[in-house]
Amino acid sequence: MGRLDNKVAIVTGAASGIGLACAELLTASGAKVALVDCQPARLVEATKNVQEKGIAKGYQLDVTDIPAITPTVSRIRQDLGEVDILVCSAGINIPKLAEEVGEAEWDPTLSINTKGLFFCNQAVAIQSMIPRKTGAIVNITSIFGLVGGPKRAAYCASKGGVVQLTRAEAIDWAPYNIRVNAVAPTFILTNLTRGYLNDPEFKAYVLDNTPLHRLATVDDVAAATCFLASDEAKMITGVVLPVDGGWTAR
Ligand SMILES: NC(=O)c1ccc[n+]([C@@H]2O[C@H](COP(=O)([O-])OP(=O)(O)OC[C@H]3O[C@@H](n4cnc5c(N)ncnc54)[C@H](O)[C@@H]3O)[C@@H](O)[C@H]2O)c1
Repeated sequence: MGRLDNKVAIVTGAASGIGLACAELLTASGAKVALVDCQPARLVEATKNVQEKGIAKGYQLDVTDIPAITPTVSRIRQDLGEVDILVCSAGINIPKLAEEVGEAEWDPTLSINTKGLFFCNQAVAIQSMIPRKTGAIVNITSIFGLVGGPKRAAYCASKGGVVQLTRAEAIDWAPYNIRVNAVAPTFILTNLTRGYLNDPEFKAYVLDNTPLHRLATVDDVAAATCFLASDEAKMITGVVLPVDGGWTAR
């Protein structure tokens, strides 16, 4: 028996990195999982891997295509059942000094990380969670939703937005017994960060700013996310849980 038996979960950004690790752990814990991502080839591969652990199905969706979100959630409900858990991990980062950020960096960052995430939260709440008066949403923000970082003006704005919309939703949807929380990871080696974490100077900057003096792993984030999604966290809503080795404690 898994702790998430009989639950249905959606994970966005599930074809890679943190989203994929969350999809794997949710499935291994007994949930039926819908993997959502905009990259079709990666999504097929990721879904195949997750299916080795249990019941999972892939759905192609670009979260910036707001009108496509509601029909995708409807399809998932038809295929897997009413949605109990939503994990929103789809995200990008385009590092640029604040004076160099243009609309080409600002718009996609805010559009994917914040706007797309919000409308995924809303679609699942409206269709499956509010009517059934139950649900758990976990939004993946970042340490840079809590503190500033170099070359991250647009990213910090987008992730700070996730922190605040998480708290606002927790208040609006508490009457429906929907819990809304966020996880704020520090640096992890994934496709998102490979470009700069492989630079020894940048990696040294990260380790020097991390009291535990190591990077996080996707499994660290998946464990925190599954905890917040599970009934073990039934009294926890509106919190932002850093998985950061102490970065934001200083
Ligand atoms: N890796 C880190 O160091 C780190 C640290 C803190 C927070 N985060 C956050 O964690 C989340 C996942 O990051 P990751 O490191 O796993 O990155 P990743 O690049 O490995 O995975 C992100 C996934 O999101 C998908 N995606 C991107 N845009 C999308 C869109 N418009 N619609 C649907 N899917 C889309 C990508 O296709 C990809 O599969 C992001 O929100 C990121 O900001 C990552």
